[in-house]
Amino acid sequence: MEQLKLADKIAKATEFIKAKAAIQPTIGLILGSGLGILAELIEEPTIIPYGDIPYFPVSTVEGHAGELVLGQIKGQSVVMMKGRFHTYEGYGAELVSFPIRVMKKLGVKTLLVTNAAGGINESFDVGDLMLITDHINFMFMNPLIGPNESELGVRFPDMSEAYSRRLRAVAEAAAATVGLRLRTGVYAGMQGPSYETPAEIRMLRVLGADAVGMSTVPEVTAARHAGIEVLGFSCISNMAAGILDQPLAHAEVMAAADKVKDQFLGLILAIIPNI
Ligand code: HPA
Repeated sequence: MEQLKLADKIAKATEFIKAKAAIQPTIGLILGSGLGILAELIEEPTIIPYGDIPYFPVSTVEGHAGELVLGQIKGQSVVMMKGRFHTYEGYGAELVSFPIRVMKKLGVKTLLVTNAAGGINESFDVGDLMLITDHINFMFMNPLIGPNESELGVRFPDMSEAYSRRLRAVAEAAAATVGLRLRTGVYAGMQGPSYETPAEIRMLRVLGADAVGMSTVPEVTAARHAGIEVLGFSCISNMAAGILDQPLAHAEVMAAADKVKDQFLGLILAIIPNI
């Protein structure tokens, strides 16, 4: 079979979506565990199962729906991924980031990304929301590895402002209006799926990380390559391994994220009109 270029696959996926949804989204949303309910606030939604979209990956994690939802929120045209992909599922970083490239082709200028993360900074508490100021790629993967297709971006993209200063100011202002204390810090992306050891957490702290998770870095890297402005948040769903004298369990991580989801959604809804 003929090998299609990445740009051709992106074009085919985009054409398919455009034929279904008469909307030009400018904001892309990738919301982590528990925040998928934002999709219910999208007005006049067009819902497209990932499995229908040519070349789109399909999620394998239980409880992660696999749908693209397009519509309006607070007067803005958005495209939201309900269910995201992780490299620990066995997908390459390029596949995990494929939807970002499709978002770009659909007209997206801004990506809002959230995740659940372990708190490394000991001044953090479970349930805190952290505005991501920067990240450390500890996944040893990069969606840009391989021949660079110049229509998608430059060979060596700048990452010196991966998380937009302008959008961080918008987020800080929105947090103040909804009365929310926002933490700030650096997100370390690990491949997972095992949680970190206490020694790894101490290493990450020394290296300047405030929170740790298993997502976001590939998507943000692809977004910057595509010239998309990024805003990111971590929900501190647990203190990272070794900080408290207790094991980490996915169910507790999910439960903690669930507790603050209303606050988190309130913040996101306050930000969207001001992007
Ligand atoms: N480590 C990695 N990923 C995570 C964590 C953690 O402690 N919590 C939520 N996602």
